[in-house]
Amino acid sequence: MRWNLGLAYLAALLGCASESFAADTSVVRDGETGFTFSEFQAQYQIGQWVTFRVAVPSPAPANYDLVFQIIAPNAVGWTGLAWGASMVNDPLTIGWASGSTPVVSVRRTSVRTQPQVYDGAKVQLLKTGSKVNGTHWQITAKCSGCSTFTTTGTTTKTLNPTGSNRLAFAYSKTKPSSASTAAILTVHDVYNYWDHDFSVAGNIDFDQLVQRNA
Ligand code: HEM
Repeated sequence: MRWNLGLAYLAALLGCASESFAADTSVVRDGETGFTFSEFQAQYQIGQWVTFRVAVPSPAPANYDLVFQIIAPNAVGWTGLAWGASMVNDPLTIGWASGSTPVVSVRRTSVRTQPQVYDGAKVQLLKTGSKVNGTHWQITAKCSGCSTFTTTGTTTKTLNPTGSNRLAFAYSKTKPSSASTAAILTVHDVYNYWDHDFSVAGNIDFDQLVQRNA
């Protein structure tokens, strides 16, 4: 099902009324982890949102690591980010809650079927900021290999650490049946795209924050 883009834009606008705003995202400083993130509120159902946040080092070296956060209501079975704004030929970072355990898995596919586990990008779940409570589950993870990746053949895509990047998400109401990173994913009910402003997601103390939260 294709989600209505107009609604997503409206949601983004309403969600950041009191915060600085660029692209479809706003800036938040997460008190728990200390990261400054740029944030997109993705509407996956009328009146229901998943929060996707990105933090990058400032200045960003070549092939920089980034930290992403997913905050999802417990009704979300799985949800994930497509770093090249496409289901195919880019790293997909997917999260879900397995009981009280937050799980993150990296996948990739060249066809629109079950994406397989992918080790070309590595995620490290950060202890602080990854949890499940009575209403939400949350992932905070460092990714090495999400900011630069090959798409097809030898074509390389690099996300601009000081600009806006097109991203996509997918959501399924069906929870994977285990905490295995290779668990079967049930096809999404919704996906959508947005422009995520990385220029306001810079963290001078990125490496220290990763260490502190690990
Ligand atoms: C069981 C797993 C999955 C199956 C069977 C599946 C299947 C499909 C199919 C058939 C389409 C085309 C729909 C259309 O044209 O209307 C599609 C599109 C899409 N899927 Fe998936 N998908 C799966 C998992 C994922 C995951 C894990 C992600 C990202 C985290 C994802 C992201 C997308 C996106 C962004 C699109 C829009 C078209 C594109 O950009 O390629 N999918 N998927």
